[in-house]
Amino acid sequence: MTRHFLRDDDITPAEQAEILDLAVRLKQDRWAVKPLAGPQTVAVIFDKSSTRTRVSFAVGIADLGGSPLIISTANSQLGGKETPSDTARVLERMVSAIVWRTYGQAGLEEMAAGTTVPVVNALSDDFHPCQLLADLLTIREHKGDPAGLTVTFLGDGASNMAQSYVLAGVTAGMHVRVASPDEFAPAASVIADADRIAAATGGSVTLYTDAAEAAAGADVVVTDTWVSMGKEDEKAHRVATFGAYRVDRELMSLAASDAVFMHCLPADRGYEVTADVIDGEQSIIWDEAENRLHAQKALLVWLLERKDA
Ligand code: CP
Ligand code: NVA
Repeated sequence: MTRHFLRDDDITPAEQAEILDLAVRLKQDRWAVKPLAGPQTVAVIFDKSSTRTRVSFAVGIADLGGSPLIISTANSQLGGKETPSDTARVLERMVSAIVWRTYGQAGLEEMAAGTTVPVVNALSDDFHPCQLLADLLTIREHKGDPAGLTVTFLGDGASNMAQSYVLAGVTAGMHVRVASPDEFAPAASVIADADRIAAATGGSVTLYTDAAEAAAGADVVVTDTWVSMGKEDEKAHRVATFGAYRVDRELMSLAASDAVFMHCLPADRGYEVTADVIDGEQSIIWDEAENRLHAQKALLVWLLERKDA
């Protein structure tokens, strides 16, 4: 049955581990699997800007033997001119999968409900699940099995990255801490979903308003921009609100002595993180960026294996 990847919890803990195992194999041997030989095309649609996602999907699809078709919404009929479901019904006649970076989660759900090909969330306002596969692969490489490790996300707890850390982290059996001002806490429904998953995996999710308390003893410290795409109008308020959550050397010193620092990029040095941390010895951001390629290739292989004939 065709599977979609719209949220981090669209895959079970065992499925997440299976995809990450395949990512490890594909990183060791980049051309080990070519399920798209034919060639077949994968549509990769962007309503928002991108460097890493665009390049990693384009290169990854080519590695798998297929052709990436990169579509900008500005030059297509999507984006108010045609519905996601009508777009999907046209694309499924021609492509093997649809990858979409957009705003609302509802559009992704509509697209997935209306098509027989896998739909992948390449970032929405609510989640960034492809990034989390890459982050978990990177954590595996630097810290071993993520299960039982503590990860602390600081800053915009209502952001796509924070909410994906909550869901993907507990799916991997991690103890996820989110430190944010109350008004930027993760959605209650996401926490409820994470609690249900954590009960089965041994992970946990805990919300904090105090950055130091949340960082204490953490194995992985993560942050992201304070001004996600689409929130530009709120920049002044956000910059005034998130100052206490900046990741600097002092905050990193509260984490475990062998803690690593992660950031999905792009970064605003001096805002959510100081340059000495993001460019320092504990930072593993370049491996994290590279792992987008390997993790997404594994995801596509896994989804294509399950696609309806
Ligand atoms: N991390 C990430 O998704 O980067 P891009 O916005 O450059 O794709
Ligand atoms: N939270 C950021 C992630 C960018 C990759 C945004 O949505 O802009």
